[in-house]
Formats: sequence, C-alpha cells, structure tokens
Amino acid sequence: MTDQRDIFLKSEGDGFFGRNRAQLLPDKERPSTTRLIEFLRETKGPVRHVTEIGCGNGSELLKICTALECEGTGFEPSGEAVADGNRMAAELGQRMTLFRGTAEDLPLPDESSDVLLFGFCLYLVDRRLLLPAMGEAYRVLRPGGFLAIVDFDPAQQHRRAYAHHDGLWSYKQDYSRIPLATGLYSLAAKVPMSHAGDGFEADADERVALNILYKEPAPYPMWQAPGAVR
Ligand SMILES: C[S@@+](CC[C@H](N)C(=O)[O-])C[C@H]1O[C@@H](n2cnc3c(N)ncnc32)[C@H](O)[C@@H]1O
Repeated sequence: MTDQRDIFLKSEGDGFFGRNRAQLLPDKERPSTTRLIEFLRETKGPVRHVTEIGCGNGSELLKICTALECEGTGFEPSGEAVADGNRMAAELGQRMTLFRGTAEDLPLPDESSDVLLFGFCLYLVDRRLLLPAMGEAYRVLRPGGFLAIVDFDPAQQHRRAYAHHDGLWSYKQDYSRIPLATGLYSLAAKVPMSHAGDGFEADADERVALNILYKEPAPYPMWQAPGAVR
C-alpha cells in the first residue's frame, strides 16, 4: 500500500508548495479563513493558541494570529513551506511557529490549543492514519475549544487520483461526520462554499465547507433512571 504520508514528507509537500506558493500569501483573502475569524471573534471564549495541521506555509494561520492577536503553531510535511512561513512570521512580528510534521503525531501537550484547524488537509491523509489524526486533534484541543475543518463536501464520499503524483489519492468526504459521530463534539457552524467563494455550490464535486465543531467540556452527563431516589 502506498504510504501517502511518506511521499508528502519526501517530495510532494515541497511539490505542492512550489506549484501553489503564489496563492499562499497572508494578504490574499480566502472566504473560509475570513468566516472562521468572524466566528471566533463573535464567540465569547478566549482564543490564545491556534494549531493548524497541514498548514502549508501558514498563510491562513498568519491571518488568524494577526486578526485575533493569538499564538499559532503549524505542522506541515514540506520543509520549504515551513521555512517560508517562519520567515514571513518573523518579518510580520507574529507569534507563529511552523514545524515539519504530519497529522497523526503532534508534539504538543494535551488540551493545549483553543482552536485546531484542518485546513484542506484531511483529504490527503492516508486512510490508515485518518482516525489517529482525529485522535491527536481531540487530545490537543482543550475542552470548550473548536475543531475547524475546511475540506471538500461532496454528496457522496469518493476518491480521485491525485493529479500531481501517481499512486496518490484525494479522498473527498464530509470529515466533520467522523468526530461528530463520537458524541464528543457538537456542530457549532457549517458554512457551505466552493473553491470560487462563498455560497452553496450545485456541482457536488466542487462543494467545499467550513465546519466548526465544539469540543463538549462534559460529554457524559450522569444518567439518572426516571424516578430514582438518591
Ligand atoms: C491543500 S494544502 C493546504 C495548505 C494550507 N492548509 C492552506 O489552506 O493553504 C494541503 C497541505 O497538507 C499537507 N499534508 C499532506 N499530507 C499531510 C499529512 N499527513 N499531515 C499533515 N499535512 C499533510 C500538504 O503538504 C499540503 O501543504
């Protein structure tokens, strides 16, 4: 079985960054990031630390750190993207640090992030590492924090051959359904959009969504039998 993670670490992370770096700029507006910032601004809880998985050069994380005056940590297989993002953060005087790494193994303490973002990353994660990646996100996010997922949102899950490297796949599905099925999160917001911008997209293969999930601080209230006497 192809180890998609190792290919991204070895070459395709840098390959993706090389092809797309002109789009990955902190002053270029992206609706999904703008909507996430708006949501977090309107929400009462403090946002001191945001983690992004598969952050590229951190162009989106930088926008969040700047808008919310918070600290950011990003993980990304591309060494070139990591170096570029750390240089940009230093130039802009922002508290953002990127590390080379992948989604299933985050060297961060338990419950240390207020927000954890999978920004167009989960569709590239090896299927055998998808649930470990979700588990790491849960471990690192504080109770009462937000898990934000920006990804494709097709009507039916499917895979397509990844255009830029033989043997790799893009796995398209509504990733919010996995953490929501655990009962450990509640859906706080779903914003339908497409690559072209805001709004619902009729073409199911072009649909994208920003899903924001709330990590319930007390997901297991004690069950009481009806009429039980203490
Ligand atoms: C479509 S790009 C998105 C980059 C950035 N989040 C953004 O929105 O601009 C997907 C990124 O995920 C990274 N990636 C691929 N596999 C990964 C994995 N297993 N863990 C973490 N990141 C991964 C790629 O190197 C790439 O930079």
